[in-house]
Amino acid sequence: RPQTLTDKFGRKHDYLRISLTDRCNLRCVYCMPAEGMQFMENDKHLTFDEIESVVRVAAKLGVRRLRLTGGEPLVRPRVEELVARLSAIPGIEDIALTTNGIFLAPKARALKEAGVTRVNISLDSMKQERFASITRGGNVNKVLAGLEAAFEVGFHPIKLNVVLMKGFNDDEVDDFLRLSIERNVHIRFIEYMPIGHDDDGWRNLYLSLDYVKERCKALGLPPTPAQAVFGNGPAEYFRLPNAKGTVGLIHPVSDHFCENCNRLRLTADGNIKPCLFWQDEFNVRRYIGNDQALEDLFFRALDIKPESHEMAKVLFGEDLSHEPTVRRMSQIG
Ligand code: GTP
Ligand code: 5AD
Ligand code: SF4
Repeated sequence: RPQTLTDKFGRKHDYLRISLTDRCNLRCVYCMPAEGMQFMENDKHLTFDEIESVVRVAAKLGVRRLRLTGGEPLVRPRVEELVARLSAIPGIEDIALTTNGIFLAPKARALKEAGVTRVNISLDSMKQERFASITRGGNVNKVLAGLEAAFEVGFHPIKLNVVLMKGFNDDEVDDFLRLSIERNVHIRFIEYMPIGHDDDGWRNLYLSLDYVKERCKALGLPPTPAQAVFGNGPAEYFRLPNAKGTVGLIHPVSDHFCENCNRLRLTADGNIKPCLFWQDEFNVRRYIGNDQALEDLFFRALDIKPESHEMAKVLFGEDLSHEPTVRRMSQIG
């Protein structure tokens, strides 16, 4: 058996995304249904001890980079304690956070001191009224304050994730492009993915990222390919003329990047999830304390990891080769 997590397609897995909770202080339209979600009970969450045990094994198998996600990772109490414990694990070189940014300003310094290296902040609109409608009640000024705090404490790089939705925020592309010129921030436009929901709502909102390139052209701001920004990245990066930051395009639907996939996931309830799109999961709980069994579980998960997702088939209403995930993005991370 190999010593590191390389799968049968030759993909080396050195990146683990750890969801700390399925709870969130926002209710983004693309992430949760209007009626909300049945959140998992507290005792279903892996404890910090359990997460640490799993990460130790993952690090032994070559995982070098971690990302803490949710739901919203900052609603989990004492996240900085977990970060400190994970950053002490031999082999772990990078601990990033994906957050909606609402609680970032008050926590940024403690997170940085504990060992968070960098943050990706989700921000789909910079207009308060619209932000509140996409997030069902969020306050954009808190996110913007979180962004400033991220600059102040020195997270680097800082990325903004903008999920592009037709008729919702496509008219703000220009504003985000300008922000990449003014600030050393990496604006990543993301194609809306059909995860855990395959409905006309998604098909109507989906917009290919060619639109972003069209806007650059219309504004007379020709993008030139930029060096990839540090990350685990599926994004393709560009720089606009005289820009301090960059523009990244993440296009899972129109042009998937699965051939370079380097990631495994650990859900808040302890399932190793080899691929975001498919249903297969492997629960770690009963193996905790037995490192050999945990290693075996990682290899079993890797062994059935498919070559790619089939989001494009969802777009065209074609049959899938097997079961897609029933989890929503908030339960995957
Ligand atoms: P970096 O390490 O900074 O490159 O971040 P990341 O892109 O790995 O993580 P982030 O949580 O910021 O995710 C950004 C976007 O990438 C998400 O909105 C998704 O659209 C997409 N994404 C994340 N994970 C996956 C995945 O496993 N598969 C696919 N197809 N897309 C993903
Ligand atoms: N499609 C694309 N991106 C999504 N995100 C959540 N749900 C989706 C989806 N269906 C984004 C969030 C966050 C990142 C982890 O994933 O906005 O930035
Ligand atoms: Fe990897 Fe699956 Fe995401 Fe493709 S969809 S990049 S295979 S996790």
